[in-house]
Amino acid sequence: MSIHFDPAQRCFRLQTRTTTYAMQVDSRGHLLHLYYGCRIGVGDLAALYPPADVSFSPNYYDERRTRRASPDILPQEYTGCNVGDFRLSCLSVTDAAGARGADFTYVCHEVRPGKYALEGLPAAHDEDGAAETLAVRLRDAVTGLELELLYAVYADADIITRAARLVNAGPGVLRLGKAASACLDLPYGRWDLVHFHGRHAMERQAQRLPLPDAVTTVSSMRGASSHHHNPFVILCGHDATEETGDCCGVMLAYSGSFRTDIEQTQTGLVRVVTGIQDEGFCWLLEPGQAFTAPEVILAYTGAGLGALSRLYHRFLRRYVCRGPWRGARRPVLINNWEATYFDFTADKIAAIAEKAAALGVELMVLDDGWFGKRDDDNSGLGDWQVNTAKLPGGLDPLIDRVHALGMRFGIWVEPEMVSEDSDLYRAHPDWALTLPGRRPATGRGQLALDLARPEVVDYILGWMTDLLQNHDIAYVKWDMNRNLSDVYSRALPPERQGEAAHRCMLGVYRLLETLTQRFPQVLFEGCAGGGGRFDAGMLCYFPQIWCSDDTDAVERLTIQHGTSFGYPVSAMGAHVSACPNHQTGRTTPLGTRAVVAMCGTFGYELDLGRLTPEECDAVRGQIERFRRWADLIAGGDFARLAAPGENGSFAAWQMTAPDAGAALVSVVVTHPQANARPLHLRLRDVAPDALYQIDEVFVCGCGQAADAQCVTGPRALQGQAFSGSFLRYAGLTLPALYGDYPAVQLHLTRVDAPEEGDGNGPAI
Ligand code: GLA
Repeated sequence: MSIHFDPAQRCFRLQTRTTTYAMQVDSRGHLLHLYYGCRIGVGDLAALYPPADVSFSPNYYDERRTRRASPDILPQEYTGCNVGDFRLSCLSVTDAAGARGADFTYVCHEVRPGKYALEGLPAAHDEDGAAETLAVRLRDAVTGLELELLYAVYADADIITRAARLVNAGPGVLRLGKAASACLDLPYGRWDLVHFHGRHAMERQAQRLPLPDAVTTVSSMRGASSHHHNPFVILCGHDATEETGDCCGVMLAYSGSFRTDIEQTQTGLVRVVTGIQDEGFCWLLEPGQAFTAPEVILAYTGAGLGALSRLYHRFLRRYVCRGPWRGARRPVLINNWEATYFDFTADKIAAIAEKAAALGVELMVLDDGWFGKRDDDNSGLGDWQVNTAKLPGGLDPLIDRVHALGMRFGIWVEPEMVSEDSDLYRAHPDWALTLPGRRPATGRGQLALDLARPEVVDYILGWMTDLLQNHDIAYVKWDMNRNLSDVYSRALPPERQGEAAHRCMLGVYRLLETLTQRFPQVLFEGCAGGGGRFDAGMLCYFPQIWCSDDTDAVERLTIQHGTSFGYPVSAMGAHVSACPNHQTGRTTPLGTRAVVAMCGTFGYELDLGRLTPEECDAVRGQIERFRRWADLIAGGDFARLAAPGENGSFAAWQMTAPDAGAALVSVVVTHPQANARPLHLRLRDVAPDALYQIDEVFVCGCGQAADAQCVTGPRALQGQAFSGSFLRYAGLTLPALYGDYPAVQLHLTRVDAPEEGDGNGPAI
């Protein structure tokens, strides 16, 4: 049992392996949040919030004489609105008379085995019965609005998920102007905020800021979780490091416009409210109707940012990703986009596939341009018939050629969009999101389909089903290449236009749910102009997501580093591309590009026909290495050893098998320096008492001076054995590496267990 209720105190305690989450129904019936943090034993948590008369914080009516209880001071589990809590609120609700207000009090609760489900929304699952659910029902006595707060406790995984459901159980129509998923009042302390900002081709740049005495907002208005901000934030102790300190993660499983606000409040508590973006949002609840707010995935640890990331990685891999591809080894793929862009023929694709097959690639992905009139990005979206000028005879002859090479075939689609220059748009102009009387803003020359209309969703389901049913397609890259503006649905009445953006998102989820259920054997990779929709909502359908349109290995280091705070390596689409890199013009060694792409799903996106015989050998070797290490890479515990830019010269990371039986350490020099310091690394997650042998060393990218400095140095480690404790505490020193962006990979295998009682392992 991980959920406990003490009827005398009316106190809930949710316990995971290392955390406690506590709430209490107070004497007025309000549900107070008492604690979320490292696991604790007995003690009066309510005493953390002593009664106080705080000026300009109004009191509950029954305390108007004592002035010792204020909704503005007490930590709340989910706020009402306009009733005296001036901090961030979860909700805005207005009744038919125009009165905006809600004040929820406890009605009942239920504890049940298993995980709650959310209708129409992505959510974590628990087929193995790992979760227990608490549902607490509250009610606003005046409007009759009911609030169901849902909690799933994954005790072993150290994760708690939350969601909120609002039901109009009153007699009149209610209007929701805001309906957040969760409020979290964190205990006292000095907190830093870690968030992930960016832009197209530069997603999820980690930024850590001391929390200001202000409200900080991380949000998207774009109809996608976006390249610019991510629906994941971390609050960590000011002194927290990768290996130490309190860290709390708040991850919203939603892929549309969202908003996460963080407020440093007057009493020293920090309030986080997260959910659907409320700007432009307005949801009408007729009597009996319900609104469900998306799921939030919470994690807490006292063991630093690295431990927090590992909690999320394991959880997302195990309980968010679904289907047969969840834990399976993904195929090494070749994608033709950067090799050909729109300019290809069946022969050109077949030639790429032939070369790739000979080098060990397993899947050929045909990217944009195979359908309709699609020679550039101004036309064709919506017309999903094969362009027979490029592919004579349709898809099947090409698929057959790919199969004949022993490869599987994958395809790119962008179903949520339409080009103005398309038969679909000419037939159904009202299927696009446009505002009456205005010319719509176009993005990449295209418009977004109105997925709030069920018939549009059904139309897409129709052609996607035909595509996947009639052709042997093993993989789909699902793209979304513009953000939503001109959000107005011609299928909704005026008073429901504030629902359009979220209804579009629900339409996307219905599409993805249906197609992934219908075609479980297909591997879906998400994409939105690179990583513009990289979130836990999408991971419910897509076990991997193209991380960024920037394939430059050095830029990818910061993108993948930032992504790794919340999301697992198995989810990060990463490819080796050509140099000079198409996005930055930078040239990096082929080997380094592979080392960086191996911090992801690993594939290729270049014309392999242009490689020299030596480079082809190198690619063959990379694929062999990746295959050998695939489980360790995708399923290992990930640790950030050195952040790119942190020490001015290199980035390093480590994957360790869950049983600590093997590890892979990767290093990339980002800034070669003269008279440079040696590269010193302290490893993580290895078992201190075990003996490890470095059984594979890969070094690349060095120039002439390499032999003296960088090749010999790391290679000399080959075959050497170290105790785990040595690797963790004394570490490894590599010589300064020479040349442009060299990289090293060290693979370690546990070879022995030390004598009992010898905590430091054998002497070396
Ligand atoms: C987006 C994707 C790219 C590629 C193009 C095709 O930008 O991120 O990888 O598929 O679309 O138009």
